Amino acid sequence: MGLNMFNSNNNTFAFEKGKYRLIPNILILSKNFSFEKNMMANLPRKSRICTLHSITAANYLVSEKYPIDFTIIDEAILYEKQKIIEGSSNILTEFYSSLIQNNSKATVVILFNENSSNYKNFKKLNYSTVLLIKNQYSIFLMTNFSYQIFCWQSYRSLLTRDFLVGESYPVDLYFYRPKGQEYSMFLSKGETLTTLKLSTLISRGIGHLYLKNQDFDELLKYALPKGAIHFSEELHYTRKKYKMLIGELIDNSKNDYMKRGQEINTLLIEIIDRIQNIINLFPSKVEALSELPFSDDSFLSHGINLAIYSLCFSKLLKFENATALDFAKAALLHDIGKAAIAYKIDTDTDINTDYKNHVEVSRQILKQRMIPISSLVYKLIHEHHETYNGLGYPNGLIGKSFSDESAFFSVLNNLDLFHRQQLENEYRPLKKSWGLFYKKSLSEEWLAPTYNPNVLQKINDIF
Ligand SMILES: [Fe+2]
Repeated sequence: MGLNMFNSNNNTFAFEKGKYRLIPNILILSKNFSFEKNMMANLPRKSRICTLHSITAANYLVSEKYPIDFTIIDEAILYEKQKIIEGSSNILTEFYSSLIQNNSKATVVILFNENSSNYKNFKKLNYSTVLLIKNQYSIFLMTNFSYQIFCWQSYRSLLTRDFLVGESYPVDLYFYRPKGQEYSMFLSKGETLTTLKLSTLISRGIGHLYLKNQDFDELLKYALPKGAIHFSEELHYTRKKYKMLIGELIDNSKNDYMKRGQEINTLLIEIIDRIQNIINLFPSKVEALSELPFSDDSFLSHGINLAIYSLCFSKLLKFENATALDFAKAALLHDIGKAAIAYKIDTDTDINTDYKNHVEVSRQILKQRMIPISSLVYKLIHEHHETYNGLGYPNGLIGKSFSDESAFFSVLNNLDLFHRQQLENEYRPLKKSWGLFYKKSLSEEWLAPTYNPNVLQKINDIF
């Protein structure tokens, strides 16, 4: 079997070999041309996609050590005229195992069929396996969402707080520019970190540095002072757990919802505990608030950031512990509805009806998963886009018609979005973004302030 078989059915075979790739390699296994076409239309244009029509061909790709960063398997590939081909599920299991072996950190496998639960053991081999059934929502949109959550990233973040003046590091360190989604060199391999360099980061509110994923082992081998990257490792692990949670939430292949809801809740609480522990490592809540949140525009970053804001501000504003926990739960779950809607819209400002629908879809998904969360969590999620002036959605609630808790949560949600938008123009500390947010929210532009003035005042007192 030669390479020409890939070229014969399409000319998308353009996988790149090598450990370091900026553009991910995506494999689609399917026998259905329209499925393939739809899938490709829903994947990022900036990716290398290979479509194959048999597992044997895919096995060849794996045996030739082509790195695969994201795999989509249409389970119908195992069927011939509606009937499963004998022994084909074993072939799939074998393929899956060798795929994971050769792409340990990277690969996501998604299966689509009514009986996908046959494959739940795959999840034990690889946490980033998502199982989707074709009958619910748009699997194309959900696959795109899974790609955004799970696809292998070329860079990983380290907290600025973990770097020491006078040290030099065995790898290149970058800072992230949200605008072009680029990484710029901050400290090259072997260069000493000076007080001046570090203070530039602090004054500009840059809480995270980045390194190439492949360089991470190099950093670990280096004689770092004890506990040197403790903050970063904790945050990285927490983010990984959050990925697992999202994977569980979008997986629609299981029926035992009661048990699963409990498991999801346990994971949710574990993630919140972890975030709380990281916050506690900081000398103060205000420092945690300005250094810990991520700057990039991604689903995972927004969820974790909002949980950080929720926990820090509820403590500073003396909310009860149970309420703080509910805020954090809502933070991690509130946008899950985006998994099933087209939310990467062409123009950033065009908030269409579909997008607004994510609030309702979030509720549906969570209800169906039977996660034991309180009515307050549901309420916070349902009202996270409502505003004081009645211009929010879904219900356009006005003024006091929604609770203080919802008003607080909606401010925090929008503050994170606002702050990260500001970072696109120029890095700045959270305090500076808050000043602008506060002023804008109280401005005379609308008949009433955008957010509840009491809530705004309370938060403003903290800064
Ligand atoms: Fe939202």
